[in-house]
Amino acid sequence: MKTTTAVESVPFAPPAIGAEEIAEVIATLESGWLSTGPRVRRFEAEFAAYVGAAHAVALNSCTAGLHLALLAAGVGPGDEVITTPLTFCATANVIVHAGATPVFADVDPRTGTLAPAAVEAALSPRTRAVIPVHYGGMPADVLAIRAITQPQGIVMIEDAAHCIEGIARGRKVGAIGDFTCFSFYATKNITTGEGGMLTTASAEAAEWIRTASLHGMTRPAWTRHQIGRPARYDVVLPGFKYNMTDLQAAIGLHQLAQIEVNYARRAAIARAYDEAFADLPLGRFAPPPAGSRHAHHLYMVLVDGRAGITRDEAAERLAEAGVSTSVHFHPLHLHSYYRGRFGYSRGAFPVAEQLADTVLSLPLSPALSDAQVDHVISVVRRIFGG
Ligand SMILES: Cc1ncc(COP(=O)(O)O)c(C=O)c1O
Repeated sequence: MKTTTAVESVPFAPPAIGAEEIAEVIATLESGWLSTGPRVRRFEAEFAAYVGAAHAVALNSCTAGLHLALLAAGVGPGDEVITTPLTFCATANVIVHAGATPVFADVDPRTGTLAPAAVEAALSPRTRAVIPVHYGGMPADVLAIRAITQPQGIVMIEDAAHCIEGIARGRKVGAIGDFTCFSFYATKNITTGEGGMLTTASAEAAEWIRTASLHGMTRPAWTRHQIGRPARYDVVLPGFKYNMTDLQAAIGLHQLAQIEVNYARRAAIARAYDEAFADLPLGRFAPPPAGSRHAHHLYMVLVDGRAGITRDEAAERLAEAGVSTSVHFHPLHLHSYYRGRFGYSRGAFPVAEQLADTVLSLPLSPALSDAQVDHVISVVRRIFGG
């Protein structure tokens, strides 16, 4: 990439917001309808078409989607749900919210995603669901996990917070498991500020989740008020306040329209990093297998000691040179709550722990300029002796 201007700092994942998003937000503000309404319905339809899912339900977060998917699957007290420790806390917190027990299983060292053999070893008669995470945009081996769990009636809920554009061995993420949950948080591949989407092939589950996302009411406000007079509704379950607003969908509609353009830019930056770092003493995750597509949410390197510097020292030196970084993730089983409540300790998941100790995410966003990408490259090469 060519340097055009001097760079002083590179943010980690700035959002790429265009004039269309801004105009649609203004149009929404002027429309008189701000909460869940016509723009949310359009965003759901267009998102379902993009991932090839039968049904999509827009929510206020991916976390809400994971929670409602567990409840729709009937997961509750006494049940176990298998997931990866190398993930954001929401993935396992929702298992606790559902009253079930999170059971962690180790990851594949080549990809950082849930290892099918570890899932198999973690199965018990109480296993009710499995939540693979498409880590950093790398599709998890969901077909292998499905082959192990589906014959036992175990529900698969995919955490695709990082992986809207992903394809897993020829199958589009969003149309594989029983439920797939996506995040539109500010740093994600598309954003609505905060927001999420759940996709499923089940019309019945989609309907239950839609109702549960808005207090358990039979008729949302938009349809109640269309006729201009009070309309009766019934509360059929004690639901949640998890709905997306039209203001969020206004942004999401135009983010979705740009998804492939922004994906191509992130993929180009990832390729530029790959080429520039090829000779450095850094570890890497493997590329996705044939027929798969990495969603390039994160660009991660493994600072595994070969360069004579720790990950935290590298992050400090990058920060001093104006380059923001992040760690995905500190392993969940070693956080205080999970240690204390479930008795986990270091050594339980050695592969996830080794990756978590060495992984470092570099800036990646379509909003980065060529000059900013060049700056990251030159600072990384300097620190790692290139
Ligand atoms: C892997 C993973 N799962 C779930 C979430 C939760 O997404 P949200 O903030 O939309 O609830 C995140 C958010 O960062 C995430 O990284």
